[in-house]
Amino acid sequence: MDHQAKLDELKKEMAEDFSLPLRESNLVFGEGNPSAAVMFIGEAPGFHEDRLGRPFVGRGGELLSKCINEIGWKREDVYITNIVKRRPPENRDPLPEEIDAYRPYLARQIDIIDPAVVVPLGRFAMNYFLPEAKITRDQGKIFLVGAKRVYPVFHPAAALRSTTVLKTLKESFQKLPRILSDTSVDSVITLTPEKAQDSLF
Ligand code: URA
Repeated sequence: MDHQAKLDELKKEMAEDFSLPLRESNLVFGEGNPSAAVMFIGEAPGFHEDRLGRPFVGRGGELLSKCINEIGWKREDVYITNIVKRRPPENRDPLPEEIDAYRPYLARQIDIIDPAVVVPLGRFAMNYFLPEAKITRDQGKIFLVGAKRVYPVFHPAAALRSTTVLKTLKESFQKLPRILSDTSVDSVITLTPEKAQDSLF
């Protein structure tokens, strides 16, 4: 079965899983190239994403698309999703039990797409892979988790609130093509299994 067929099956399974929390909101499974080399992972859908059933389609999403285009890539070439696949009420932060409930599905989604580089967007997504990391300290650093490079960056919504964060986000994006193409990039931080959730890949 090809990657898209496997993803379609996983989406169907999620839609039929009544044990998942936040079922009053729509499922925002993710979209993009089913064999993408780079996967962007945000926190949870917001108002616009819930309405359209697509990830990152509000103002933060527009900025994400712009950052992707600025490095010469297209949104359709990468894969975009979230750690929690339904909108928490009033856009509150996802709860630990919500992140845990959606965890096995994200792990399978990553397994199917099998990207070389995972880019967590913001603190929640970063801590999903790197529980001990701090966003201000560790964004823009490359972590080797299992065989994958994990490259956390600021959340686009945070960049909409601060010009300093926006500048850093854009600088981090400029480094992405090299991180993808050059597997020998310096300053890779290899994490021990107890410091990373490497069983998730
Ligand atoms: N913020 C996120 O983290 N994900 C989205 O899909 C939209 C906004």
